[in-house]
Amino acid sequence: MALPREFASDNTAPVHPAVLAALTAANEGPSPAYGFDSWTARAVDWFRQQFGGDTAVFPVWNGTGANVVALRALTRPWQAVVCTEQAHIQVDECGAPELLAGCKLLDVPTRDGKLTPAMLRESMRGVGDFHHVQPAVVSLTQVTEYGTVYTREELVALAATAHGLGLRVHMDGARIANAAAALGLPLRAFTRDAGVDILSFGATKNGAMGAEAVVVFDPGLAGEMLFLRKQSMQLASKMRYLSAQFLALAEDDLWLANARHANAMAQRLAAGVRTIPGVEITQKVEASAVFATLPRAVSERLQQRFHFYFWNHSPEEVRWMTSWATNAEDVDELLAAIRAGMQGAA
Ligand SMILES: Cc1ncc(COP(=O)(O)O)c(C=O)c1O
Repeated sequence: MALPREFASDNTAPVHPAVLAALTAANEGPSPAYGFDSWTARAVDWFRQQFGGDTAVFPVWNGTGANVVALRALTRPWQAVVCTEQAHIQVDECGAPELLAGCKLLDVPTRDGKLTPAMLRESMRGVGDFHHVQPAVVSLTQVTEYGTVYTREELVALAATAHGLGLRVHMDGARIANAAAALGLPLRAFTRDAGVDILSFGATKNGAMGAEAVVVFDPGLAGEMLFLRKQSMQLASKMRYLSAQFLALAEDDLWLANARHANAMAQRLAAGVRTIPGVEITQKVEASAVFATLPRAVSERLQQRFHFYFWNHSPEEVRWMTSWATNAEDVDELLAAIRAGMQGAA
């Protein structure tokens, strides 16, 4: 039986062949452990070229771990993190930030996954009152969980507001490559230079096998990160295998090509969907996801051939996600099936 075509997540994509080849190439003889290897030194150099020479870089195993380590660095036990109600840290990390960073999340409802300066100001309740948790961090997801992308200007305004309110700025960049591709900007322009203090840098969704990094722009935080990463069980002993993945994606800007491709596939899908009566796109398509509503019975039939999720247990809204591995034929087949399904439903 043919495997269903994948539109469920960029995590279902295979590992990029260049990443696998780099892992095999790194698998030669002994090498110092815990990040003292030459792959990690070169990967750190690459990050410093992107973000500035004084950037501190901490490779970790996964995105939840990156977020937990970053938030641990930024909070004390009575403090809180402002995020959206759709944020991965809020809904998809099984409470790990609350448990392991030991801080409350203050989640803000949004229509499109984006916070605004006004929302941030509104969430500053009970400041100075010892009965209340004290907001200390805002966590922004870029690309958002709704596939939308903060502009550089929006981020500058948010970070300025946050800093003015005494908050630090964390960015969950699980899909940061897709954001760079969408914005057409260097990574630094919409992170460090926009006022982000600490970044969870994602590579797994971009073609890695499993490699993320906590990227720290505030030199004052860097020293304790070594301890926090280890204590959070995110220190890889054989770190060369994480770092080799970053290097493979860095080579000839493969990371950017992968992200551009994923975004282009989402645009192709969205353009086709817009021509199908009865299917409504519910969010701006700015990166690698298309959110849409269509009759549930049609979606359920489509799911026999295409793997994708209903969004947030909604009866009608679905998320179609593309990745570096999605090809145009996959998209065109999905479009043809949606069209046929909708004609059957009419
Ligand atoms: C916005 C966001 N942050 C973080 C993650 C990382 O999660 P994981 O711990 O599964 O690597 C994901 C993965 O789905 C994500 O979508």
